[in-house]
Amino acid sequence: MQKNMDMMKSFGVLFGLLHDVDFECYPEEHCKKAQELLKEIDASEELIHAVCSHGYGICSDVEPKHEMEKILFATDELTGLIWAAAKMRPSKSTKDMELSSLKKKFKDKKFAAGCSRDIIKKGAELLGWELDKLLEETLEAMKNVENSVEKEMIK
Ligand SMILES: [Fe+2]
Repeated sequence: MQKNMDMMKSFGVLFGLLHDVDFECYPEEHCKKAQELLKEIDASEELIHAVCSHGYGICSDVEPKHEMEKILFATDELTGLIWAAAKMRPSKSTKDMELSSLKKKFKDKKFAAGCSRDIIKKGAELLGWELDKLLEETLEAMKNVENSVEKEMIK
């Protein structure tokens, strides 16, 4: 059981790291070129599916099936919105951000307009979560990793 949990965690980290593998060099083929690039390194079909599914309905027709895939689909846009909101705060941090503040930013269509609210809502729907749960859990997760992300960025 522990071995399976460790393998899922490793897969999740790999998936998280590789999900935009094609974006910088092939932005017009995002989530399509990834398939080709990952096949070249003999990546598993599961990993290729996971990577390609994060652009479902945008640049990919690969539907997120696994919970981990649905979470990335739902949070890819949302983390951008949360981080944009954090940068507007005096603290420049998520740590003192309240859910109510995030909800206001979410409703303000002019704020971080590039972060699709429809995709975020669809992600919550795919997960079977209320939108508030998705916003709250994502905000809490970002609060929890902010220090370690900052440390890595400074290196
Ligand atoms: Fe992406």
